[in-house]
Amino acid sequence: MRTQVAIIGAGPAGLILGQLLHKANIDAVILEAHTPDYVLGRIRAGVLEQVAVDLLDEAGVGARMHAEGLPHDGIEILIEGRRHRIDFVGLTGGKQVMVYGQTELTRDLMEARADAGLTTVYEAKEVSVHDFDGERPCVRYVKDGVSHKLECDFIAGCDGFHGICRASVPASAIRNFERAYPSGWLGLLSDTPPVAEELIYANHERGFALCSMRSHTRSRYYLQVPLSEKVEDWSDQRFWDELRRRLDAPANAALVTGPAIEKSIAPLRSFVAEPMRFGRMFLAGDAAHIVPPTGAKGLNLAASDVRYLSRAFIEHYGGSSAGINHYSDRCLRRVWKAERFSWWMTRLLHRFPDTNPFDQKALEAELDYVVHSEAGRTTLAENYVGLPFED
Ligand code: APR
Ligand code: PHB
Repeated sequence: MRTQVAIIGAGPAGLILGQLLHKANIDAVILEAHTPDYVLGRIRAGVLEQVAVDLLDEAGVGARMHAEGLPHDGIEILIEGRRHRIDFVGLTGGKQVMVYGQTELTRDLMEARADAGLTTVYEAKEVSVHDFDGERPCVRYVKDGVSHKLECDFIAGCDGFHGICRASVPASAIRNFERAYPSGWLGLLSDTPPVAEELIYANHERGFALCSMRSHTRSRYYLQVPLSEKVEDWSDQRFWDELRRRLDAPANAALVTGPAIEKSIAPLRSFVAEPMRFGRMFLAGDAAHIVPPTGAKGLNLAASDVRYLSRAFIEHYGGSSAGINHYSDRCLRRVWKAERFSWWMTRLLHRFPDTNPFDQKALEAELDYVVHSEAGRTTLAENYVGLPFED
């Protein structure tokens, strides 16, 4: 088999890239290790920047997002029992974000791909990438016990943090930057109405909490927990009791509890691999970088990488290699700004046991400054809604 772009991974990065290339008449095949149900079963973030919304419209998959997604004009930050609003629209000249679950977005992308008759090989096993440092790369995989070779012009490594693309690069050609945090997020999804119209980010001495949502009838809540915690030890009742302790009285009065549809613990991690291009192989999304979820940037960065990558391929087939040559630098400039923002939000809003008392006081003063100063709120708002692209 032969294609122009072999995409490894059918998460948001791979699927959005596939759709953008399809719109540009560039042929691509997606190889995915798991089943469609497995991919759809992973519950992940749900906030899209305006630029990501625009990209999904450009890819022709925005209809259900606009019909069912919830545009948000701001967020609330809860500190010592008092809420402080960050008015995105007022502070950024009219920008909003869209609350729309990654699961729903993935479903829309899968359907668009199937409707267009595009090839996705699910349950592709033993996927390996070859000769990307030369002119004729290829990908090998096994499907239903049969070995296949996919020849291509380019490989797009959209295979997530644990994928094989980054792992196939010689250690001497790549530099990893990493930061671990001693906490995780315990998340609970429930078919209950959200506690408030907007997301509430709560700073509390017992730890951070977040009240988020997927729709008017489905809520997503998170609690900061030590990394040593086991999800089995968290009954629904224990979760709701702990959440109540970290919220204010109006939120507690409005909180509707119910059985968890999903409950899991995710570690907090910052990670960047440089560069993001190795000859004819390009990394995009979680394959190249991870952010702690406090800034809601994971999915948005995946979208912005593949925006640059799709344009680079379109330019290449139009006769210019400029986009390809600039891909890694362009992505990394935006990635590092989102890494910085995610790290900053995480540090500011969580309580970490290894923070010394002086630093803790300084962080509390910084948070107080941010919410009470228009300059501080603007910094938060313009990063949260998404920084502009370079082109
Ligand atoms: N071969 C084929 N597919 C693979 C392989 C492999 N060897 N390894 C991993 N994959 C697949 C995974 O099964 C997964 O479906 O690659 C896909 C990667 O998807 P994601 O992990 O969702 O990564 P990405 O598309 O970059 O999306 C980033 O998702 O993880 C969230 O917070 C993150 O919102 C962000 C977004
Ligand atoms: C979510 O709804 O899952 C969510 C929202 C905002 C975040 C992180 C996660 O910052």
